[in-house]
Amino acid sequence: MERYFLTTAIYYINDKPHLGSVSETIAADFVARYQRKLGKQVLFSTGTDEHSQKVERTAQNLGLPVAEYTAQAAAAWKSLFDKLGISYSRFIRTTDADHVKVVQDMFQKLYDHGDIYKGSYEGWYCVKDEEFLLESDLVGGKCPHCGLDVQHVSEANYFFRLSRYQDRLQQWYEDHPDFVSPEARYNELINVIRGGLKDISVSRSTVKWGVPVPFDENQTVYVWFDALINYATTAGYGTERFAKDWPADLHLIGKDITRFHGIIWPAMLLALEMALPRHIFAHGFWNFEGEKMSKSLGNVVDPAALITDLSSMIGVDDSLAVDVVRYYLCRESTYGLDADFSSQRLLLRFNTDLANDLGNLLNRTLNMFSRYKDKLGGQSLEPKMDVGRVFETAIAAIRADYDALQFSAGLEKSWGLINLLNKMIEDDKPWALAKSNDFVALSSHLATLLTGLWYVANLIEPCMPTVASRILSAINRPQSNWIDLTWNSPGPMVPQVDSTVLFPRIQPDQLERFLSAQTARKASATTQLPSQSPAPAPSSAEELVTIDDFAKIHLRVATILEAERVPETDKLVKIRARVGNEERTIVAGIGKHYEPADLVGRQIVIVANLQPRKLRGITSHGMLLAASAGEEMALLTPMSGLPDGADIH
Ligand code: MSP
Repeated sequence: MERYFLTTAIYYINDKPHLGSVSETIAADFVARYQRKLGKQVLFSTGTDEHSQKVERTAQNLGLPVAEYTAQAAAAWKSLFDKLGISYSRFIRTTDADHVKVVQDMFQKLYDHGDIYKGSYEGWYCVKDEEFLLESDLVGGKCPHCGLDVQHVSEANYFFRLSRYQDRLQQWYEDHPDFVSPEARYNELINVIRGGLKDISVSRSTVKWGVPVPFDENQTVYVWFDALINYATTAGYGTERFAKDWPADLHLIGKDITRFHGIIWPAMLLALEMALPRHIFAHGFWNFEGEKMSKSLGNVVDPAALITDLSSMIGVDDSLAVDVVRYYLCRESTYGLDADFSSQRLLLRFNTDLANDLGNLLNRTLNMFSRYKDKLGGQSLEPKMDVGRVFETAIAAIRADYDALQFSAGLEKSWGLINLLNKMIEDDKPWALAKSNDFVALSSHLATLLTGLWYVANLIEPCMPTVASRILSAINRPQSNWIDLTWNSPGPMVPQVDSTVLFPRIQPDQLERFLSAQTARKASATTQLPSQSPAPAPSSAEELVTIDDFAKIHLRVATILEAERVPETDKLVKIRARVGNEERTIVAGIGKHYEPADLVGRQIVIVANLQPRKLRGITSHGMLLAASAGEEMALLTPMSGLPDGADIH
């Protein structure tokens, strides 16, 4: 079986996890699950970076022995990753005994080969970033990366002969234009290498909480040197397995730590005569509603709190809320570039992509199945081949996206398939097929939906593992890797109709609670003025109305509580809707386009002050708004949930 080895950076143990930092491990989990879907055996590591003076100090401040403090903090990181559904093969801690041994072996080997030598360091050190800095690196006397104060350091320590590897590194970059991506990061690094590399300090005499230098008891290994080696420990350095798993196929890291991974780490490997990683991908940063996420601004998004807020708002369990967050992070960013977290966008993605597109598709399929299954006895269940061909072509394109870590583009294509199935329901009008007793067409329609959903669930599994497994159990079909997906008869159809509702729609009061919880979590509020744009000119010579004319019409948001067909009509649906504090009945001519059951819970826009009128003996109090073009019709609905009764201006 082909193997695939990928890693995330390991997290500073004394930092609290935030949505930005864990987004890296979520993206890596996406890749790990995707590679498994391609039939590969995946080795996937994440973990904690535990040595350094700041860790020792944090433990002291808490009054805990440092080993006890790191054990507790590592357990908290690990349990967060478990909650996020991260399918790591190893959660590595740099205090793990096997890792400490690998670090010491490598340090000794480099020393024996003359790649490490004793010298003295005089200069600056940033404790936050654990980085040695030159005077010329400082910006206004502070660390150029985090902006914090730096320490002046003057100590005897060991140096790694980075300069010795400059030419070979440059050659490597020139021969491997795909070594680092995105391209901007590759260019940045090759330029640094061309500009010349200096030897670097790789031990500390003043830090006690670190891996002891094997041949000098007064020194510990520099925390970055120790941390980078975690990748070799995970692959089983010094054991038989190592030959199979080395080198890494992918190091996934953030844009702030490219020099460590793209220059120092490959030079260490060249010195150790070990193969270099196949690929390094440096992603961008998540900001918070336009600002950099930072503790000092108080705007870091706590992933655990976000999940709790979401699950209580949507009324689903935590593992589904986790998938909502995973989907949002992967769909809402162009991977490699910076992205911006916004609670509003998260809810919009939830309402449109998850509750409406995907949730509805599953509900409609299962509802139709339960309604028509008795009529289908004896029909063969052949999914439509033309739809199957569209799916097969899309999978090839989705693979190309995921191979390039373009998660959003691949998900967008998967949603193209979901909406193809939704549109097929509208085009085929299965309720009309049932009415005209066309059971051959109806069974092919249902078989196409079930097979399509089977594909969709397996395609979205890397992003949303819980959603995928709930869909698969609802339609009673197996997990499958992508190679074994075949577009053929789903066999006897036995969906588990009970477990239908994946994502209940967000009710207005729940939505408000969520947004205010998110706002309350944001310590520094910024006020943004809406941008002023000129009024658009009327697009045609339509008869113009004045604002006073328009003000006579009261448009309001309503929530549909019940919907049923008006007996003996194709077209009319009787709706019971809540508009603010009142409930009213509205009769609407939408029966050819919507199944009444699918309308319940939806928000619509109604003309609230229309004179009542009788249709088929039922008095309709208002009219709902829909857009139509030829045969097509779509109900108008607010983009995000609102209190019903809300005015539309
Ligand atoms: N311990 C080092 C890495 C050693 S790897 C051998 C470190 N740790 S970190 O906790 O500061 O960062 C871990 C990862 O999280 C890094 O890849 C970093 O880029 C990423 N992120 C931290 N904040 C982030 C965002 N706001 N957005 C996206 N990723 C971010 O550096």
